[in-house]
Amino acid sequence: MTGEGVGFGKAILFNEHFVVYGVPAIVSAIGKYTVAKIEETNKSGWKLNDNRKATPNYKEDKIEQQKDSINRILKKMDIDLSKNGLEITLEGNLYCASGIGASAASCVAIARALSDHFDLNLPDEEINEIAYQGEKGYHGTPSGIDNTASTFGGLIWFEKGDTPVMEKISVPVPVEIVMGNTGKVANTSAAVTGVRKRKEENPEKYKEIFDRAENIAYLAKNAFINEDYKELGKLMNENHKLLQQIEVSSRELDFLVKLSRDQGAIGAKLTGGGLGGNIIALTPGRDLQDDVANAIEKEGFQTLKTVIGALREGV
Ligand code: MEV
Repeated sequence: MTGEGVGFGKAILFNEHFVVYGVPAIVSAIGKYTVAKIEETNKSGWKLNDNRKATPNYKEDKIEQQKDSINRILKKMDIDLSKNGLEITLEGNLYCASGIGASAASCVAIARALSDHFDLNLPDEEINEIAYQGEKGYHGTPSGIDNTASTFGGLIWFEKGDTPVMEKISVPVPVEIVMGNTGKVANTSAAVTGVRKRKEENPEKYKEIFDRAENIAYLAKNAFINEDYKELGKLMNENHKLLQQIEVSSRELDFLVKLSRDQGAIGAKLTGGGLGGNIIALTPGRDLQDDVANAIEKEGFQTLKTVIGALREGV
């Protein structure tokens, strides 16, 4: 018997890092996904074939975290591999890089594939909880935003908590974005720890930044509802500034953000954990999307063109 499952990639539009402390954030699934396949073997334990395409060093850098993550998923699902084992294969069209939700997509895909393999028929809510445990392998104290986007798809308002708040934001027409990959693999866990340390050292300064981040989330939600992309772009630019202030941007991220804006993107910011990884640029219309993507590629960086706001991305 075999099992198969899918998890979407994601782009955080507002408030990565701030979300770890309960500030509302907005995230969208993207139209690329990881597929996991499960096959039974007659050897105990699990074996992984990771066939995903990836930024150089991504898979190597994350191998230990990945092992920990898979063990956490199996534990949460109470799967005993002491007699028969499992072979897990990862593939799909999501190119692994930092900031694009590759770890969450793989956790969700594996949880779904295991549910399928063992005929558990788990609902999305449970898949999401299992994937959240898996995410802990990659970054100790995840807010849960990535696995939520990866499980449910679409555009989501998210607030961390004992019972996290998750609301779908509906936009009438999906809007084009470009993601630009710095090619640098980043350690989310280290980025989150760095913010925590600086926040503790500078409580007043960080309070001001965090208050503004919260304010931006509400303004952005309204801008989405009103389809005011100009305002949305402005707020993304401001959000990037806050992320610079909490020191999670990098030279390459700032370069790609500026390049995108110079090329006409109405807003651009880093997305995800930062310190490397990806930027996201808001580029309504195919022509603007092409212009920005071409400019980034001309500088030697990889891009991903997709849309945000589709009801359930990739489906
Ligand atoms: C990583 O994609 C997003 C962070 O906010 C961490 C988290 O929310 O768990 C940096």
